[in-house]
Amino acid sequence: MKKDFLEGKKVVLGVTGSIAIYKAPEIIRQLRDLGCDVHVVMSPGAQQFMTPLVFQTLSGHRVLLSPFEMGEEGIDHIEVSRGAQAFIIAPATANIIGKLAAGLADDILTASVLAHEGPVVVAPAMNVRMWKNAVVKRNVEELKAKGFTFVDPGSGYLACGEEGEGRLAHIDDIVLEILRAVASGPFKGKRILVTGGATREYLDPVRFLTNGSTGIMGVELAKASYALGADVTLITGPLHPRVPSQINVKEIVSAVEMLEAVRDELESADVLIMSAAVADFRPDIIEERKIKKDRGNFTLNLIRTEDILKSIQHLKKNRLFVGFSAETHDLFENSLKKLRDKGLDFIVANKIPESFGSGEVSGFLISPDGKKQEISASDKFHFAVHLLKKISA
Ligand SMILES: Cc1cc2nc3c(=O)[nH]c(=O)nc-3n(C[C@H](O)[C@H](O)[C@H](O)COP(=O)(O)O)c2cc1C
Repeated sequence: MKKDFLEGKKVVLGVTGSIAIYKAPEIIRQLRDLGCDVHVVMSPGAQQFMTPLVFQTLSGHRVLLSPFEMGEEGIDHIEVSRGAQAFIIAPATANIIGKLAAGLADDILTASVLAHEGPVVVAPAMNVRMWKNAVVKRNVEELKAKGFTFVDPGSGYLACGEEGEGRLAHIDDIVLEILRAVASGPFKGKRILVTGGATREYLDPVRFLTNGSTGIMGVELAKASYALGADVTLITGPLHPRVPSQINVKEIVSAVEMLEAVRDELESADVLIMSAAVADFRPDIIEERKIKKDRGNFTLNLIRTEDILKSIQHLKKNRLFVGFSAETHDLFENSLKKLRDKGLDFIVANKIPESFGSGEVSGFLISPDGKKQEISASDKFHFAVHLLKKISA
């Protein structure tokens, strides 16, 4: 399946005179990869750092540079955002943030933002002292109060040689915020709790039993839930890809810790999606010291772990519970049995081994009446999006 999240959508990207501008082309690449039409507007500062040719080549459109130019369609700053679902400024300088807060329109970028009616996403980048400056803080708060969405900068080594807050947010997080702005999602105002990854059941301080789950599905479900408007908490095993800063993440190790974390977080959730591959068995004792080779052969005694969904069934109330079922055989029959035993609203059935790893995945969404809806093969983010859209319907 094609990556189609932003198919037919238009987005305007404003770039400004921050050294972090060298990262902006990656935003265009990611958005275009998702089917989006991207138009670029360069502030006067931005034009000191990069040439329009880069942005023109990557976006496939003429880049806007001056408020005094006329395109074929008419006045550039009025036309550029016509039909656009979102306006993004990344990186955003202290200067542009100040000008926007003051309502100025003396360059092509600020004039274009003023003429845009939809959501505006701002990703600032600047020196740590500039970012902490009270006037900049005031301007940011002013814009937030007016409905602008900020993807706050991260901390770390800055191009000026100093360290601290001010680095442009991770590009993946900026793109995720754009997806959320564009999607105006069905889960707006809802809280989704996602579990993902594999648990580890230790037998001694260095060895553990686990399974093939990579944690990718959990992270992609969390991202898709966020993109579709939800506030998201992800409870995940130790192995997983990077989690975007917008997702509240709780890392656990064992099945017991997973159960505790789900119990803690369930109260505030409207939807629970259990995609974690939780151990069904654990060693009955965890040795305090590393088991030495000279012990020779030995028998490992395994005991059943508590079934999480069964043990929280009584807390379900009016929440939506969605389970995952990865099977090697009798996928439909086994999944339906699991759904009914655990009192779920839906179960997602995937085949092993394709459910593990970073490749494409396909499956079925099964409801208690035995009805199954196919989710055709796609990368895990799009699989999660299609799944969530079916659930929301
Ligand atoms: C090498 C260099 C790097 C700069 N990096 C930043 C930056 O990351 N953030 C920022 O707010 N200003 C930065 N500035 C200052 C801006 O370029 C300056 O305020 C400019 O007026 C911004 O113009 P614009 O908002 O029209 O793009 C930098 C300046 C130089 C010379």
